Amino acid sequence: MTKKSYYITTPIYYPSGNLHIGHAYTTVAADALARYKRMQGYDVWFLTGTDEHGQKIERKAKSEGKEPLEFVDDIVAGIRHLWDKMLITHDDFIRTSEDRHKKVVQKIFKKIYDNGDIYKSEYEGWYCTPCETFFTERQLAENQTCPDCGRPVELVKEESYFFKMSKYADRWLQYMEDHPDFIQPQTRRNEMINFVKQGLEDLCVSRTTFSWGIPVPINDKHVIYVWFDALTNYISALGYGTENDSLFQKFWPADVHLVGKDIMRFHTIIWPIILMAAGIEIPKKVFGHGWVLLAEGKMSKSKGNVIDPLVLIDKYGVDAIRYYLLREVPFGQDGYYSEEALVNRINIDLANDFGNLLSRTTAMINKFLGGIVAPPGEGTRFDGELIDMAKALPAKVEELMDKLEFSNALAEIWKVVNKANKYIDDAQPWSLNKDPEGKEKLATVLYNMVEVLRLTTILCTPFMPTIPEKVWSQLGISDRKDIQGWDSLSWGQFPAHTQINRGEPIFPRIDLKELELQEEKPGKGVPEDDKKKEQTNNLNAESFEAILPEISIDDFAKIDLRVAEVLACEKVEKADRLLKLSVKLGDEVRTVVSGIAKHYRPEDMVGKKVILVANLKPAKLRGIESKGMILAASHGEKLEVITVDDITPGGRVK
Ligand code: MSP
Repeated sequence: MTKKSYYITTPIYYPSGNLHIGHAYTTVAADALARYKRMQGYDVWFLTGTDEHGQKIERKAKSEGKEPLEFVDDIVAGIRHLWDKMLITHDDFIRTSEDRHKKVVQKIFKKIYDNGDIYKSEYEGWYCTPCETFFTERQLAENQTCPDCGRPVELVKEESYFFKMSKYADRWLQYMEDHPDFIQPQTRRNEMINFVKQGLEDLCVSRTTFSWGIPVPINDKHVIYVWFDALTNYISALGYGTENDSLFQKFWPADVHLVGKDIMRFHTIIWPIILMAAGIEIPKKVFGHGWVLLAEGKMSKSKGNVIDPLVLIDKYGVDAIRYYLLREVPFGQDGYYSEEALVNRINIDLANDFGNLLSRTTAMINKFLGGIVAPPGEGTRFDGELIDMAKALPAKVEELMDKLEFSNALAEIWKVVNKANKYIDDAQPWSLNKDPEGKEKLATVLYNMVEVLRLTTILCTPFMPTIPEKVWSQLGISDRKDIQGWDSLSWGQFPAHTQINRGEPIFPRIDLKELELQEEKPGKGVPEDDKKKEQTNNLNAESFEAILPEISIDDFAKIDLRVAEVLACEKVEKADRLLKLSVKLGDEVRTVVSGIAKHYRPEDMVGKKVILVANLKPAKLRGIESKGMILAASHGEKLEVITVDDITPGGRVK
């Protein structure tokens, strides 16, 4: 049976300097998708590359006294190195300076010219060189700046070739109506449709005032507009129009072009119209993801605030960075990068939840079963729920991955990881071990844990490619490829009688305190009250705080403890440990600030019924009035908010 093909692309990057974490975001997402599709059995073609022509690159090269190609060569080598370090599994890397690309661009330009859709005229208007985009006077932002990047634009007046985009507006609108899934997410689709409904102008597709580009085939005084050139990479890399176009035949139209939201107009309007004019099929989908932002706004070299992915990989490992990028923010939305949030993800999700599940499981198999996984037998009353969740998980993950909802797919996997951790607490293997009748149940519980680890590890592989090897080694199944793939996702395939190999924690915890000490800057340290909390949280695991002096029942009666339901929750800006919660008790809704941000994500809190000290004198924390205090239990580094399940908000705790 021939495999189904799947073609996925990233934008090709400008080699004008080192890439930052925002660039890595698109490529990591594309790589996770490519790996997932390959694991599912698709014949995948994954393309990335570099967009090397244009005025911006020519000027940069000149400023360094270099020829453009000489200038970009080093940077392109750096980009390739970055993708190697990020474990990006592209099948091809196209450079627009390559002959194989240039020939195809000229061919398409000529084809459209011959069809009468490219004509010569004069361009007079505005140009943003950093964005390589033309604008009309009406489109400019204040003080004649670029509406996209805010930088000054230049007035350009030159002979140019024009592409008759205006002619295709109705056909484009009709195509969008017939293919409602072409532009995703939906909000971006609406934006693009509204843009075209206002009318399309013909596009200037050649320049004469610089030479670093592909010559116009019918007039070599002109070079082809860099976006016309760049967009064509998606088919030039497949050998379109050449003697060997087998890749084009097999993989075109692309299944998905993944791009940042800033370049949606080029990919969803200009690119399909070029293809329409050249008589080539339109790709199936363009997905526009959001921006990775910093608290102070967009990353940019001029602001000196770019985050270097290579530094992060060296510090935290590639799996953690990939996981963080795809887990932290729903794909499609903007999100803020912070090292603090990254470390929290490592400590909570990876070390605490996943790493701990592996450590606990292997430790107990060693201690109770002599290091050998026993076959499951009689079960416990806790098994059913866990097994049902684990069995349902692969289909849920597939559904979300197919919609490019990477963050939600990971959240679903983590629900099962967390359920398994809770299962250990409920089923208590240590008690079963002491019970002479409990041996069979003990074997079942430990088997179930191993099997959950196997399934969740397989599902995590597209996101964290080096983790499986480590897990398989600890579980003793390194050579069992047959139970490590997507086709082995059905429950119960872990081979009993396997000897496990307990190893080091796969995700060592990062000491946040040390990290903060390194980073602490004047005026930006850890707030004193938060520091105290951290000290109590970091008590040595074996020592407990001394019990406080005795109080009477009347003293206790002064404390009004209530059940409160969390309606909404968000981080408090610039306060690493604080969450702001909206809680409901009876008819009243209050705001409470709580120092639990190191242990809970805002979304984890919503819906919980917590216990509130309801008559505590209000206090202002970071300018927010907090009316009450949420109860939590802590020991060592662990902290858990106390919750109830079935009591109506407002109910008293006595
Ligand atoms: N060369 C064009 C693409 C041509 S594709 C035919 C280009 N290059 S770029 O290097 O500026 O950007 C490449 C990708 O990185 C784009 O998808 C862009 O949206 C993405 N990102 C750049 N900075 C980003 C963030 N801060 N956050 C998320 N993605 C961002 O555009």
